[in-house]
Order: sequence, then structure tokens, then C-alpha cells
Amino acid sequence: MTSNFLTLQDLVLAARERLGKDVWDFVTFGTESETTIRRNRRALDSLAWLPRILRDVSKVDPSTTLLGEPLRMPVLLSPIGSIARLDPEGALATARAVGAFGTLQFLSSHAEDEIAAIRTGAPLPLIYALHPYDDPAALDDEIDRVKVGGYRAISVATQSGYYSRRERDLMNGFVGKVDPLRSYADLLRREHATGGVAELRPVRLSWAMLDRIRARSGMKLVLKGVLTAADARLAVEHGVDVVYVSNNGGRSIDHARAAIVTLPDIVAAVAGRAEVIVDGGFVRGSDVLKAIALGARAVCMGRMQAWALAASGEAGVRRMLEILEEEIVVTMGHIGVNRLDELSPDYVAEAEPCVTPHPLSAFPVVMERLFGLHQ
Ligand SMILES: Cc1cc2nc3c(=O)[nH]c(=O)nc-3n(C[C@H](O)[C@H](O)[C@H](O)COP(=O)(O)O)c2cc1C
Repeated sequence: MTSNFLTLQDLVLAARERLGKDVWDFVTFGTESETTIRRNRRALDSLAWLPRILRDVSKVDPSTTLLGEPLRMPVLLSPIGSIARLDPEGALATARAVGAFGTLQFLSSHAEDEIAAIRTGAPLPLIYALHPYDDPAALDDEIDRVKVGGYRAISVATQSGYYSRRERDLMNGFVGKVDPLRSYADLLRREHATGGVAELRPVRLSWAMLDRIRARSGMKLVLKGVLTAADARLAVEHGVDVVYVSNNGGRSIDHARAAIVTLPDIVAAVAGRAEVIVDGGFVRGSDVLKAIALGARAVCMGRMQAWALAASGEAGVRRMLEILEEEIVVTMGHIGVNRLDELSPDYVAEAEPCVTPHPLSAFPVVMERLFGLHQ
């Protein structure tokens, strides 16, 4: 199943047409001043290529592996909790597209209804993205369900016990008025409207909790939300297999550093003892390759996935992956590499960004059509 979209910009425009303003704003924007979102984009736009010439690039191959799993290209799909708001088939549509294409998807534990649907089907290319809560019995029960669910690995989300203030959602009446003293889980339950979150007290996360998840699951472990070298070192000491650099795309902490700016420090701190992946602002093939040049194994995408799913369900996500692959192959050809392991920081240099950063600023036609902005 595929579709006729020619560009990523067509997918974004189709998503805007299909989504109501409240869901569009919820997906596209983020917390308070939205500085983190803009930093993510500005930092990616501040890297320019140092291409090499006169090389034979007739055999470009963008494939790689993560946790030993083959990936057709270094792009995975980030966890999205409220995925059913974007397409009736939600995570199941995405999982089918990802499986047909040949990469992996993080499945948010806040996509509970989809999880039930997925369990009844064939094994799918999923990493379970767990949002832990501090009821040990309920947590153990969830881990045990994940163990038998055919997942390739378990990923632990680390955003704080406080729900962030996404002011557009508040102003649109999309979530109830946020009271930080109410529990995060309770608010998530309202946000995702799927039930299934058993614990209503604020979530107290800890490294001991991570150890418990690792020991009980016996599965490969991904830690999402690492933003400092100090925490990356701790993650490795606690046996994490994949350090997932993420500021949640500016949906939790405002005024974080850009993910791609944080990446080199974390790659250095991990020093090859775990694989490093990253998300936050990546929407283009060339964005992906910049992270690979700076030491990431692969890149995850949240919003781009959401827009593609909203645009055309399973076919939209499949088409998004195909277009991204084409962008990656073409860029590899232009910069003179045949394989991802040929990339290094020598291929990128600091440069002045050319556009005002915005979640959609990598898409000039979208900016023109939606906002009348000729950047
Ligand atoms: C609609 C939406 C829902 C999300 N839900 C979750 C979630 O349940 N758990 C989580 O860890 N991250 C969640 N995220 C954050 C993504 O996993 C990812 O970190 C972020 O979107 C990456 O930035 P990008 O959107 O710029 O690619 C969500 C993101 C979006 C857009």
C-alpha cells in the first residue's frame, strides 16, 4: 500500500487539511514559549555540508542496524501517545508501514487501545516505549505483558512527573486546565483518552526503577530523554543498550538545548559502550545525515510521522519513509559517501541559518501556503 505524494511538503499540507485546528496545534507545537522546538530546527539549519567531490558514488547504501536489527535507512519512528487521534488505525497503520518498509517503530504505552490490536496480529517491528509509574505491582505486570508481546526492546521515558504547559492546547480547550499538583498520569489519561494508566499519584522516577525494569524484562533497554553527558555515563553504567537523546521535540521542557547540539557531548561520553539515537526537529533526509555525521546510529521522527499518518494513514507513512530514503540517498551522493560509516564530523561545518526557525520551516511551500511567509 503506497500513495502518490511526491514530497514531504505535500504530506504536511494534506495533514493540515485533514486535522482540526486543535489536533493540528497539539501535534505541531509545544510547551510555553516553544523555544525548544525552535532551537531544534535552528541548530539543524546551522550545520552546512562540506561535500567531497570526484568520488564514485554509484553504490550509495543508507542501510544500518540498531540493536542488531537491520534498518533499511537510519530513521525510526518516535513514540506518539495519542496516535489514534491521527488515523483510525493509529499505531497499527504505522507499524504495518514500518514493517513493509524495513525499519522500527517505538510504540508508546499511552497508545493502549492500539497495543491490544497489535498483540492480536503478527510480530511487528516495535520497541515498547514504557512510561513508568511507581506502583511496583502494576509496573511488573506491564513489564511481563511486554515480555510476551514480541517487542524487539523496551524503552523507558524519563520526562518528569509534571505535565508540561502546552498553552495552545489550553487555549484551544484541548486538555483540561493543567494543575501541576494533579498527577501526570491522570492528565495523560485525559490527554490520550485511552484509559489503562493504573497509577494516579505523581510519578517518582529513579535509576533504581530503571534497574528494576531491566532486570525483570531481561530485554534490550533504551533510555529516552538523555540530554547531558553525565546522564549518558550513568545510563551506560546502568546497562542501557541505546542512549536516546531527546528533548521530546519541545513538548516537555521549554528552553532545552537543541537535540543535535547535545549529541556530540553524549556520543563522547558514551564512547562506543552503547548505541546513540536522537530525535527533535528532524524532518528531512539531510537532517538525518547530519546526526549520523555527529555520531548517532539513527534518528527518530515524531511530528513528521504524525503528519504523514494524518495525511494518508498507513500509505502516508510508507510514502514518507520512501521520500526520506530518496532524500538520504541523494544527499549521500552529493556529499560523496556510499555508506553511513564513511560519515564523520569532518563533513559538517557551522553556518548561518537562512530561515526563522519554526516546526515547519524546513518546508518553504508549506510556510507560503499556510502562513503566507516567503522566508
Ligand atoms: C503527537 C505527539 C505525541 C507524543 N507522545 C509521546 C509519548 O507518549 N511518549 C514519549 O516519550 N514521547 C512522545 N512524543 C515525543 C516524541 O516521541 C519525540 O520525542 C518528539 O516528537 C521528537 O521531536 P519531533 O517531533 O520534532 O520529531 C510525542 C510527540 C508527538 C508529536
